[in-house]
Amino acid sequence: MVTLHLDAVHDPAASVMKAALLLRNGLLVAIPTETVYGLAACISNEGALANVFAAKRRPVDNPLIVHIANRADVYLIAHVDALSEHLIDAFWPGALTLVLAKKKGVSELVTAGLDTVAVRMPSLGITRDIIAAAGEPLAAPSANISGRPSATTAQHVIDDFGGSIAAVVDAGACEQGIESTVIRVVDGRVMLLRPGGITRQQIESVIGSELLSPEAQDARTSPGTRHRHYAPHAAVVLCDTEDMLRSEAVPGTIVLSKDPPPIEIPWRRLDATTLFAELRRADDLQVNKILVHCTHAVRIDEALMNRLRMAAEPFRESDVGK
Ligand code: TXA
Ligand code: MG
Repeated sequence: MVTLHLDAVHDPAASVMKAALLLRNGLLVAIPTETVYGLAACISNEGALANVFAAKRRPVDNPLIVHIANRADVYLIAHVDALSEHLIDAFWPGALTLVLAKKKGVSELVTAGLDTVAVRMPSLGITRDIIAAAGEPLAAPSANISGRPSATTAQHVIDDFGGSIAAVVDAGACEQGIESTVIRVVDGRVMLLRPGGITRQQIESVIGSELLSPEAQDARTSPGTRHRHYAPHAAVVLCDTEDMLRSEAVPGTIVLSKDPPPIEIPWRRLDATTLFAELRRADDLQVNKILVHCTHAVRIDEALMNRLRMAAEPFRESDVGK
């Protein structure tokens, strides 16, 4: 199959129409969002949903996020408690995904057999236009092969899936570059399952209490955290100090840093919006080692640190094929 490149920068209307037609016909289309590109399928099409897992080589126990065009559509698929409603009021459309009690009829493929479903309403207009034109919510995990850095440009999507999906809607580089925050309300408390575009502080200021930390919960409540993520081929080493940078730097190393690094070495700017693009670029250049200069400004960015820590995790035998 040749993957169709739909140019939404120059012709958004035609791109939306063609993408929706392909989706309605049960094919997979990569779509832009304000966070990262998603690999979309219609939620009512079991064959298409199965193909999402196959194309991504995603473990079937890792559920998908459902994307909706209008706020009211959340009630088609989920029961919404009062605190979740309050968070929806504050943050939708936007980079907040809520794990909610699912309604009957939501495919087990979407939920990985759980009794909950993750839902978000993206803020990027073209994403909502595509969902509306497809005529039903779209299940869309990040559009990368499982374990690889997420895709923040259409070229990243083609690099991972060229030929194996029907189309990619190209709206340029994603504005935020890091995935949505995933939360779940349990017994009146909000659990942070994955830090992301909406910060802990933003949520806490809306609910007036502290979020439960990711460390505090059982891995079963956050299936995605069991699997290896965001890993480039190069080794990623997090360096807190200048001494560590110096001792880790060998030929074939680059540094990611917010500011020019304190040692003489090739470097690239570290920022949440371009992190995944930089990890992919390092692989294209066959860099051996990526040193990340973890200054205070980096350490206080919870979502960025979460992705960096996961990218730096050592490879385990059990990760093969995930
Ligand atoms: O920004 C985003 O969230 C992007 C764009 C495309 O919307 N999507 C994304 O999807 O990052 P994905 O599949 O890469 O990550 C979804 C996360 C996974 O960690 C998954 O385990 C979790 O959401 N998740 C999905 N359904 C869940 C559920 N029912 N309970 C708990 N966690 C769930
Ligand atoms: Mg992902």
